[in-house]
Amino acid sequence: MKYKAIIFDLDGVICYTDEYHYLAWKSVADSLSIPFDREINNRLRGVSRMESLEIILEKFNGTLSTVEKEELAAQKNELYKQYLTKMSTKDLSDEVKNTLDALRKKGLLLAIGSSSKNTGFILNQIGLNGYFDAVSDGSNITRSKPDPEVFLKAASFVSVEPEYCIVVEDAVSGAEAGHRAGMKVAAVGDASNAGAGDWNIKNITELVRIVEDEES
Ligand code: BG6
Ligand code: MG
Repeated sequence: MKYKAIIFDLDGVICYTDEYHYLAWKSVADSLSIPFDREINNRLRGVSRMESLEIILEKFNGTLSTVEKEELAAQKNELYKQYLTKMSTKDLSDEVKNTLDALRKKGLLLAIGSSSKNTGFILNQIGLNGYFDAVSDGSNITRSKPDPEVFLKAASFVSVEPEYCIVVEDAVSGAEAGHRAGMKVAAVGDASNAGAGDWNIKNITELVRIVEDEES
């Protein structure tokens, strides 16, 4: 088989936490009377927590110290984590779980490549704790997507060269990160609509066909 590992982004690919990010950031933005809507929230996909805050502060009239910014980011994360406690195995769709199982059955290594420092918590909530062969997330990187670091680390954790990896991403910045890592990209959601992938798919189940086609 041509490919040896598939590296999945988490938020927007394995499960959906967008609305929780939105509600938590909205509350922080409202407390500072900063205009914030779902369109701005879309720009936060794949972007680290602190960089997300900087995007939100583009519409803030005033300046904040580093300590104040850190407090706001911590406040957002507390609210966000409260929402995450509502997640359960019901937030893992059959489509995603069956696709993961089918890919594993074909002998592929499966990894996570996410900017989120809450990756472990979320995987636990949806019943995938310990499922992946490797997890590269916001806690082991210094630069967030579109920098390729998170995917390069994931590839090294499973000891697979980038050219044998496929990244699955819903964010345009994540698709760029995958390409900069020297990997092929299967884009879903936003990134698929933008045509940012080597394969722009509508449904994650299509991954099985993609790796099968590459076998021949
Ligand atoms: C990414 C999300 O997965 O994680 C971003 O797409 C988010 O929106 C980023 O900002 C960081 O998440 P966390 O959980 O570390 O605040
Ligand atoms: Mg994502």
